[in-house]
Amino acid sequence: MSFDRTIKIAPSILSADFANFGQEIQAIEAQGADWVHVDVMDGHFVPNLTFGPPAVKAFRPHVKTVMDVHLMITPVDPYIQAYADAGADILTAHVEAGPHTHRTLQAIRAAGMKAGVALNPGTPAETVEHLLDLADLVCVMTVNPGFGGQKFIDMTDKIRKLRQMIGDRPIHIEIDGGVDPQTAPLVAGAGADVLVAGSAVFKGGSVQNPDVYGENIEAVRAAAETAVS
Ligand code: DX5
Ligand code: ZN
Repeated sequence: MSFDRTIKIAPSILSADFANFGQEIQAIEAQGADWVHVDVMDGHFVPNLTFGPPAVKAFRPHVKTVMDVHLMITPVDPYIQAYADAGADILTAHVEAGPHTHRTLQAIRAAGMKAGVALNPGTPAETVEHLLDLADLVCVMTVNPGFGGQKFIDMTDKIRKLRQMIGDRPIHIEIDGGVDPQTAPLVAGAGADVLVAGSAVFKGGSVQNPDVYGENIEAVRAAAETAVS
């Protein structure tokens, strides 16, 4: 996985057909997805429950790009090895998920994965200042995590601040929640390079009608690229 700051679209399979993940993943990748975003929820850290390591392991052979696993769970540390064994390329934990995010990020890297740290909308950028040397990705939530299809919360200031804090370090800024062709330029212009999109990618399409996924992905990408100099 080489590092670059070009715009990458990461469809969230939270908006896919849950009875058909394999074909859905193949369809979005064939239609131009750069990464595949996998939302793991525990019904405890967030008020919704999705899937765990065995399901993520079953997705793995279908993902030819990058499997970007977003943990919305607490605790995190007891499950890190299970997600490494499941084949996650990037494992992201929330800074709000426990008191020892520093240790968590070390453990994610020690298990052979890229390490991500996510911030809820109410959490300031400064919270991750002393974690940046242990992080490969910072995920800025632009909704309160738990559900797809929520309204975008403007975090432009936070993104700008993080972009400045990161400087030349090879750390991605990922935006998660309510990203669509209207909001993509705001976040890309502030310095984000990875755009997660669930409903904006899957709406109107299906594995029988995958061209719509491609049009939706390109609409988000084109909108974001207009804001990048
Ligand atoms: C929110 C999840 C997101 C979500 C994004 O808790 O982390 O990845 O699926 O969905 P949209 O793009 O529909 O807001
Ligand atoms: Zn997510």
